[in-house]
Amino acid sequence: MTDPTTRLAPCQPPELAIIVPTYREVDSVEELSRRVAEVLEGVAWELIFVDDDSPDGTAERARALARTDARIRVIQRIGRRGLSSACIEGMLATSAPFLAVMDGDLQHDEQLLPRMLAAIKAEELDIVVGSRYVAGGDVGTWNARRQSMSRLATRIGQILIRVELQDPMSGFFMVRADVVRACVRRLTGVGFKILLDIFSAAEQPLRFKELPFSFRQRHAGSSKLDNAVLWEYLLMLTQKLIGPLIPVRFIAFSLIGALGVFVHMAVLWPMLHWLGNEAFLLGQSTATLVAMTSNFFLNNILTYRDMRLRGRQLLWGWLSFVATCSVGALANVGIADYLFQEGHSSWFLSALAGILVGAVWNYAVTAVYTWKRPKTA
Ligand code: GDD
Ligand code: MN
Repeated sequence: MTDPTTRLAPCQPPELAIIVPTYREVDSVEELSRRVAEVLEGVAWELIFVDDDSPDGTAERARALARTDARIRVIQRIGRRGLSSACIEGMLATSAPFLAVMDGDLQHDEQLLPRMLAAIKAEELDIVVGSRYVAGGDVGTWNARRQSMSRLATRIGQILIRVELQDPMSGFFMVRADVVRACVRRLTGVGFKILLDIFSAAEQPLRFKELPFSFRQRHAGSSKLDNAVLWEYLLMLTQKLIGPLIPVRFIAFSLIGALGVFVHMAVLWPMLHWLGNEAFLLGQSTATLVAMTSNFFLNNILTYRDMRLRGRQLLWGWLSFVATCSVGALANVGIADYLFQEGHSSWFLSALAGILVGAVWNYAVTAVYTWKRPKTA
């Protein structure tokens, strides 16, 4: 019998894995791979593209590269979206002891990679961050709105993680794999802020260093950071504050539900005003339907942005949402009425209990039937 290990082809394992999340970056993957290979000459590296099934064929283009260079790999995720969760999956898919996360649009300066690697090894650091806000770094040509948005997010981030990181929003860093693995179950995986997520999930304060770099201009494609991303960021902060017990989506769902009350009144009031009180039933029904519909769309673009229903899926989504919430409303009224009539509690607590049961039901059922159905298309 031969020793089974000798049958494995001798191939040097990677020391550094560069994780590159991509969404619609078909025109950048080749250039990025070329630059990484050039700058990491002499290092055992691997490059992992984590693509969320970009319609422009990014994954296929990256696979074509992988056929010419075994150090390049591709993870293609179907029916999922999200920068943070893509980074996490990439980081878990390698055996390399050092992990770098870098954007796929060439805005991050790859020249920093060898210097990050040298620093993290020589200085016994947990993490090295590419920073736009330490001396020598800059944000390039951002417009005023984007700059102030970034500054605000940075301040909130600094307060939250209580660490003197100048650029907690950076999407460019190198970290020890064991640091990530130790805290991976506590990561929220929501939104764009993977670095902040790691810092706040780490058990001990991380030993870190920031190296300056200049944020380049995009040369192809477009940014995916929009207002909804800012909302996701707020969701992540909220999740951190309330702890892991209550899912952040439930909170978003409930907030939107509360907003629905205003929508409801805004429809009901003018109807009663113009049609008179006899139209109450009609008004109440119309207002309920309008509020449910607006709640459905708001949840679809905010709470479930990463699994957003589009096109024909919207019809099924809306139907299942309205059906579920109607049952939820019946349960709400039934329970509140029971508690109140039996004298179990005050009108206020009865109503609250009804609302809570209705909200939990609506959330739990729509999470499964409206948004998490396996996509057939
Ligand atoms: N897999 C995957 N899924 N990748 C994504 C997704 C997604 O849903 N959304 C964006 N990406 C990829 C992009 O293709 C790109 O490679 C990288 O993530 C960054 O996305 P951009 O859309 O280019 O972000 P940006 O340039 O506006 O924002 C940069 O600066 C922010 C700081 O203000 C990024 O570096 C952010 O990480 C950083 O927080
Ligand atoms: Mn970018």
